Amino acid sequence: MRLDVVTIFPEYLEPLNVSLVGKARARGRLDVRVHDLRAWAHDKHNTVDDTPYGGGPGMVMKPEPWGEALDSIIESGEGRPVIVVPTPSGRPFTQELAVELSEKPWLVFTPARYEGIDRRVIEEYGDRLDVREVSIGDYVLAGGEAPVLVMVEAIARLLPGVLGNAESHRDDSFAPGAMADLLEGPVYTKPPEWRGRGIPDVLLSGHHGKIARWRRDEAFRRTVRNRPDLIERADPAAFDKKDREI
Ligand code: ADE
Repeated sequence: MRLDVVTIFPEYLEPLNVSLVGKARARGRLDVRVHDLRAWAHDKHNTVDDTPYGGGPGMVMKPEPWGEALDSIIESGEGRPVIVVPTPSGRPFTQELAVELSEKPWLVFTPARYEGIDRRVIEEYGDRLDVREVSIGDYVLAGGEAPVLVMVEAIARLLPGVLGNAESHRDDSFAPGAMADLLEGPVYTKPPEWRGRGIPDVLLSGHHGKIARWRRDEAFRRTVRNRPDLIERADPAAFDKKDREI
């Protein structure tokens, strides 16, 4: 998969060299290219923003540098990328969207600063390409770079050959499957006792059926406590009599 990121803070994307995403790059699973938007600003101060039409606070990112940047990136590759525009006014970034984007061969991220990008840029590329305005949550960050790091990590770990153990995203919270709609439950490792705290007996029992049931119940309990909205939204057929006792 190819990923391009256009930003005025290329150094903000340094974490893409580290850990899972860094390894995926080193293994050739991901081709990540970070571009400095100012390379496409031609005045002596490399200006990328200006005051908003209609007045109001803050600055708006000018369309010309974005247009030149995107044209040159699009021309540099084959086929059409999906353009992902991080913005608090976008559609929510979910595991489902991460899965969908992980199946695309090429993504271009356009993290903005200030009050956002001149609307005409979104319209211009939206006429020709698949453009997604995406929010990572109901809070406002100072720019789209941190959301790009979040989205790239969620997407990269889904690519074949990136996670060490292909089964490890099977039980993820929000992964489709038997535990769909439930958060992941608690996990334990050695030692068997730590600061006087033990491990739930069932996990030491070796009884796979009982362990699966326990995990399911813990996941259900945690979801009721932390995300009652998920329970309300879920398919009632996914629950059984025992759940109602919880
Ligand atoms: N830019 C600023 N806040 C954001 C958010 N919550 N999601 C995506 N992009 C953003």
